[in-house]
Amino acid sequence: MSEIDDEALEAARQELNADANGKEPRTFFYACQISEIPPIGKRGKVVYSDGDEVAIFNIDGQILAISNICPHETSPVMATGFVDCDTCQVACPLHGWIFDMHTGQQIGAAGSIRVYEVKLDGEEVWVR
Ligand code: FES
Repeated sequence: MSEIDDEALEAARQELNADANGKEPRTFFYACQISEIPPIGKRGKVVYSDGDEVAIFNIDGQILAISNICPHETSPVMATGFVDCDTCQVACPLHGWIFDMHTGQQIGAAGSIRVYEVKLDGEEVWVR
């Protein structure tokens, strides 16, 4: 990335991390470009920030982000899960636990997976 790109990116980060009244810092972080996410929910793109491992999906233009770590065996596999684009649910590829990608709620059980808030800035994807 060029020096100019780095400056623009840092400016964008600062803008997105400042809240409306300047008191409460927001914690969105830049994840990727929309074009870097495999289309039609085939696979998620994995990004890392501050110890978080996030799987970002493009479900027919809807960008959703969940933890890449399946809570069953803390396996980093959710980006390779089986996505149902109609229901926005993803099944872990190891043992099939299914999660709602909007709420993180496990389907048919009481578990859950972490869900991240997504913010788009043009083609940039930011999550927190
Ligand atoms: S590791 Fe995901 S269901 Fe078992």
